[in-house]
Amino acid sequence: MIILGIETSCDETSASLVKSQANNLKTLSHIVSSQVKIHAQWGGVVPHLAAREHLRNIVPVLKTAFQKAKTKPSDIDLIAVTQGPGLIPALLIGTNAAKTLSYLWQKPLIGIHHIEGHIYANFISDKISVISPPKADQPQAGNFQKNPKLRVTSYELQAPFPILCLVVSGGHTQLVLMKKHLDYKIVGQTLDDAVGEAFDKTARILKLGYPGGPAISQLAKKYKNCHPEFISGSQIKNKKTPKQVRDNISLPRPMINSNDFNFSFSGLKTAVLYEVKKIKSNKIEKLKANIAAEFQQAALDVLIHKTMKAAKKYHPKTIILAGGVSANKELRKQLGEKIKEEIPGTEYILPETEYCGDNAAMIAAAGFYRWKNMPAIERKNSLQNWKILQADANLKLE
Ligand code: KG4
Ligand code: ZN
Repeated sequence: MIILGIETSCDETSASLVKSQANNLKTLSHIVSSQVKIHAQWGGVVPHLAAREHLRNIVPVLKTAFQKAKTKPSDIDLIAVTQGPGLIPALLIGTNAAKTLSYLWQKPLIGIHHIEGHIYANFISDKISVISPPKADQPQAGNFQKNPKLRVTSYELQAPFPILCLVVSGGHTQLVLMKKHLDYKIVGQTLDDAVGEAFDKTARILKLGYPGGPAISQLAKKYKNCHPEFISGSQIKNKKTPKQVRDNISLPRPMINSNDFNFSFSGLKTAVLYEVKKIKSNKIEKLKANIAAEFQQAALDVLIHKTMKAAKKYHPKTIILAGGVSANKELRKQLGEKIKEEIPGTEYILPETEYCGDNAAMIAAAGFYRWKNMPAIERKNSLQNWKILQADANLKLE
């Protein structure tokens, strides 16, 4: 079947055609029109500007998605659209476009939770069309590079359940346990800011521009390349550390030892603000990269520690990452290393970097699984969803 995905929950207008084929989910087209440059001058997403841009872009983005996929509207079987959560003016553009097309083309329509979409980005199997194990000198494709044990034979078998998912985006930080497809139990979450939000706010303090995540991670990488002696603040207390390392910026790891799986990132951003205030203005440029590296490591230490703690309690067979911050190379690497070291039997699956940020392919992928698990009567009713589907800024996952 072919699914049209539509995503407009924040500042990316995206449409994608995804095909379920030979037990794989393949992207036929994947178009993302980003508004980052427009919002950058305001230091964050301005909802009514986002809506105006979505309105301007939605038709060209849809047309391009069909052209690139060499697909006609009559070829599609389902429309999946982000229903929420997100910015309501932005969500309304996508949901109204989807409802109109569902009515015009007489195609079933399903509303998808944005985070469900991020989770299902892990199930897009674009780059894993080769199912047989690769030869020794041949790198494995896509998600499974770091996991020679995993043999993908179908979308059913890609990730053994239970799955523990670390959701890290601009609006969410959650640990989600899935016993089966479409079944979510939130076992931990942030009590204040999301981790992506903390990256963005820290970048604003350091005047690195918007969005902050990529800017901070690039600066942190530069710093670590120039300072191989860099170790994170949490290790600095060791008396044997050389003086220049002890002089490093040291930030807290909020809630790292709390007796639950929750997070808190707003204090970390405030700690950055206090550090910056302490530094003389002529020294700030020199220390920015050190702050970026320490901030990133502080955030990752907490995320990784809590994920491992949850894994040891819930014994998932697979750990996955989801959301914009899952593009962070250090997070991908360090969590992988920890899993290998401490729970080596556990599969570790990552979304392709191009599907980490907001995109419609992930919405189409989630739509496919919703459809597959839907009773016949509900499938029939979804032809009428154009009448009733409502964007919901506070849609819940569970
Ligand atoms: O999932 P997403 O695209 O949008 C939401 O659903 O919120 O996530 C956006 C967030 C932003 O806060 C952005 O700064 C962060 O993801 N981000 C990163 C990286 N790339 C994007 N954070 C850390 N490292 C990155 N490489
Ligand atoms: Zn998102």
